[in-house]
Amino acid sequence: MKPLHSPIYLTVAFKQAGETTLSDRGFDLKYSREENPTVRELERSLAALEGGRDALAFNSGIGAISALYLSLLSEGDEIVLPMECYGTTIQLAERLSKFGVKTKLVYPNGDSIVEAIGGGTKLVLVETLTNPTLKVIDVPEVVRRAKEVGAITIVDNTFSPLVFKPLKVGADASVHSLTKYIAGHNDVLGGAVIWGSLDGEELWHWRRRLGSILQPLEAWLVTRGMKTLEIRFERQSKNALAIAEFLSEHPRVREVRYPGLKEDPYHETARRLFERPLFGGVVSFRHVGGEEGAKKFLRSLKRIFPSPSLGGVESLASYPVISAAKTMPPERRELLGITDDLIRLSVGLEDLDTLIEDIDSALGG
Ligand SMILES: Cc1ncc(COP(=O)(O)O)c(C=O)c1O
Repeated sequence: MKPLHSPIYLTVAFKQAGETTLSDRGFDLKYSREENPTVRELERSLAALEGGRDALAFNSGIGAISALYLSLLSEGDEIVLPMECYGTTIQLAERLSKFGVKTKLVYPNGDSIVEAIGGGTKLVLVETLTNPTLKVIDVPEVVRRAKEVGAITIVDNTFSPLVFKPLKVGADASVHSLTKYIAGHNDVLGGAVIWGSLDGEELWHWRRRLGSILQPLEAWLVTRGMKTLEIRFERQSKNALAIAEFLSEHPRVREVRYPGLKEDPYHETARRLFERPLFGGVVSFRHVGGEEGAKKFLRSLKRIFPSPSLGGVESLASYPVISAAKTMPPERRELLGITDDLIRLSVGLEDLDTLIEDIDSALGG
């Protein structure tokens, strides 16, 4: 009898009676910090999702980004990063200055990133959608310029799995926080790198050296989550669009950011980049009542939890000034439009009317 689901290989080591056992990657299968069949199954699914040559799974999104930085960068190299990137992605890059790596932070749009890429640039890392103001980066433009100078482009595709395929537009690798949409249930931390042209073996060695492989139970949970990624992402995008439209008409809302809205400044770019008209579950908006109004809104929600994560089945609301943009200098927040009246919603799978009722009542509508 064959099981419907693969087993979870909760084993640290593999028996080797004199001969070497090889994984399908051709590496030694002897110790679970290096390879594990449950993790390998997830990696094959991830590579298939984005048309990659292969993938590696890590114990968090930041675990994946750390291994990428360490495998790709050497003393004297320069990283170009948009200044509206996940905070720890920026912090980690900046801390590499003690090993002689320079970080150039630039405004998050295609033109500024392209302009910043020069002869000394070794690595460009961009997020498809920025967080929390949801600017859409023109990734193909960035890739084109990076190739001209021989730099590597990594796309953090956490916010747009399913709809955007970084490798198809020439990026060298895509990185994910699996913690978000891909696992999708707010119950597991994980990360991954999916690559086309990158040296995967070198990255594999860095994962082994750093000890940052995803654990088998977590890998199994992510594989299970992936089975419903498509229907979750569709439903979350549909709910989020309806909520963005509702907020756009609401008298207690000043401005809504959601690339699915026709009037959003990034709508056209998103339509061009995304394979399907699905824009994800994250919507940001400004409350007319300023900081006090935003905080009162968060306190008044009954069904939506105040929490900093995103992409899972439960709807969550966060206050970016003290979460996503907490470590950002105030003048940078101002430049990016991360104001103290800004609220970010991560829309889940709940009944749409229930969500709208909760939002309306918390807005005092
Ligand atoms: C775009 C993006 N990349 C990377 C990360 C880091 O992922 P993790 O929390 O799984 O380490 C996050 C976390 O929020 C994120 O939003």
